[in-house]
Amino acid sequence: MGLLDGQRAVVTGGASGIGRGACRRMSAEGARVAVFDLDGDAAAAVAEEVGGFSFGVDVRDADAVRAAVDEAAGQLGGLDAIFNNAGTGSMARLHEYEPEEFRRVVDVNLHGVWHGIRAAVPHMLAGGGGSIVNTASISGIRPSPGEGPYSAAKAAIVALTQSAALEYGGRGIRVNAVAPGAIRSAMTTPLLGLGDWEQTWTERTPLGRVGDPEDIADVVVFLCSDLARYVTGQVLVVDGGMILHGAGIDGVLDYVMQMLEGPAGGPPPA
Ligand SMILES: NC(=O)c1ccc[n+]([C@@H]2O[C@H](COP(=O)([O-])OP(=O)(O)OC[C@H]3O[C@@H](n4cnc5c(N)ncnc54)[C@H](O)[C@@H]3O)[C@@H](O)[C@H]2O)c1
Repeated sequence: MGLLDGQRAVVTGGASGIGRGACRRMSAEGARVAVFDLDGDAAAAVAEEVGGFSFGVDVRDADAVRAAVDEAAGQLGGLDAIFNNAGTGSMARLHEYEPEEFRRVVDVNLHGVWHGIRAAVPHMLAGGGGSIVNTASISGIRPSPGEGPYSAAKAAIVALTQSAALEYGGRGIRVNAVAPGAIRSAMTTPLLGLGDWEQTWTERTPLGRVGDPEDIADVVVFLCSDLARYVTGQVLVVDGGMILHGAGIDGVLDYVMQMLEGPAGGPPPA
């Protein structure tokens, strides 16, 4: 018997990293999964692996998300869970962000989560309940320099999660968030390859290692399962204890800027 036997689920950003890990773990626990991602081919590969469906969809597009969730719920015969996980990062000083890039980061991370909630709730209400899990970040709880729009969007996801928990708790829908720390994925591969940042992150983590997508996916399974039946409106930090020391991204902006500009803002050393 699996923890999610019979559940019908949507995972956004399901083609890679934490989302792909969640598709695998949720399906291993008995859920049927619809994999949503901007990268439709990669989503299809994950769907084939887990025996689910895939949709190439941009979470910034509210109507496209709604249409895809409607279609997924039709194919699955209902909807019990959605993991609103698609996200993207960016790094610059606040006064140097182009407005378009700032909006893009907020759009994907924050509006993308709301679009998932907006699309999923009618199906869950019709089915008598469900579980929504959103991906926040320790960056939304303890921001680092250089992550302005990302941190702001992730902090807003916490508030949105709490609002949704209040609005739908009485209708059988639980709404929670996971706040990952430093997790090995396509998003963090470039950072882990910078100088000795992998070692730095490892040393900043009390549990002594960089996390894997499955470390988050297992918590998502828990939150979607009946084991979490009395848990709603919560943000579960899953970071190996990193936030007790600060955050992994601390210092990355200065490091990158020094590589690009040199220590005094001049050209990099020869
Ligand atoms: N990796 C970490 O250390 C870490 C830490 C904290 C939070 N997170 C969050 O976890 C989530 C997953 O990130 P990951 O580390 O697995 O990264 P990842 O890059 O491996 O996966 C992100 C996935 O989201 C998809 N995506 C991006 N923009 C999209 C859009 N507009 N519409 C649909 N899909 C889109 C990408 O194609 C990709 O498949 C993100 O919300 C991220 O902010 C990651």
